[in-house]
Amino acid sequence: MNISQFIERYSGVIEKHLNSLYPADSSLPIIEEAMKYSLLGGGKRLRPLLAIMSCQLFDGPIDEVVPYACCIELIHTYSLIHDDLPSMDNDDYRRGKLSNHKVYGEGFALLAGDGLLNNAYEILLDCVISNPTESRIRAASVISKAAGISGMIGGQAIDLYYEDKKIDIDKLNEMHSKKTGALIKASLEVGAVISQAAEEDIERIRLYGESLGRAYQISDDILDVVGTKEKMGKTIGKDAKENKATYVTYYGLEKSEKLLTETIDDAKQALRAYGSKAKLLMEFADFIACRDA
Ligand code: IPE
Ligand code: IPE
Ligand code: MG
Ligand code: MG
Ligand code: MG
Repeated sequence: MNISQFIERYSGVIEKHLNSLYPADSSLPIIEEAMKYSLLGGGKRLRPLLAIMSCQLFDGPIDEVVPYACCIELIHTYSLIHDDLPSMDNDDYRRGKLSNHKVYGEGFALLAGDGLLNNAYEILLDCVISNPTESRIRAASVISKAAGISGMIGGQAIDLYYEDKKIDIDKLNEMHSKKTGALIKASLEVGAVISQAAEEDIERIRLYGESLGRAYQISDDILDVVGTKEKMGKTIGKDAKENKATYVTYYGLEKSEKLLTETIDDAKQALRAYGSKAKLLMEFADFIACRDA
């Protein structure tokens, strides 16, 4: 199986699972509708796919990792809804359509994000309570740390703070590692933890995730300049407009592209020990290096 075949096959599994999370509830349809609007309306599902790829690398149980992978997608989707709010990045488009607050208003967009976040923890706790093995408890802990102030939220705080301010390279890298890298790295780690991989394997996948996660945000910064709204499904040119600290504003386009290639190489280097067994994750890294969507 190559990476395109893998993505096609497992995107279907993820979509099916995500769709199964929300049976109609008529108590107040608008909140559920707002949650489903962002969760089920597009999204490349890269984080769940990474969790499954990591699980596969360590010969783990894919059906067991799917609920964890989908929790990460819920958390990621909530982060996007809040990221687009006027008080954050003020973006009108996401995943190829109007952003959540443009359709439901700011209040419901806030609540839809909160709803997805809370729902992720309900599912995680159900997973753990139903079978409280050490690896399942650890996987839940990995996700909660990555989503919090030492992870995604912390990175978003740096992003917000450094609007209109000069940033240094260490802070910029920290911001990228946290706001985007943390959930990507956690997705990979969860796949390994659920597979009961050895500690040295978990460490290698964390190293891969650290570089891949940073590379992902570097490419997002580049695509905010050279990408198209049609492919990206969101407004282009917003970082410059909002005076955001990005790789492109720090290094310029050419150097950012070079650093992206180097960071992708670092990611691949971390998995060299696995040879062709890590083929999918290697191909995935290359896919990120030249993505346009
Ligand atoms: C967008 O993430 C936000 C960043 C972390 C750069 P994705 O590019 O994974 O967006 P979706 O999930 O496919 O919409
Ligand atoms: C997003 O970074 C990181 C999140 C945690 C949502 P960006 O603000 O650059 O993501 P886009 O460009 O809006 O997708
Ligand atoms: Mg942002
Ligand atoms: Mg944004
Ligand atoms: Mg961006």
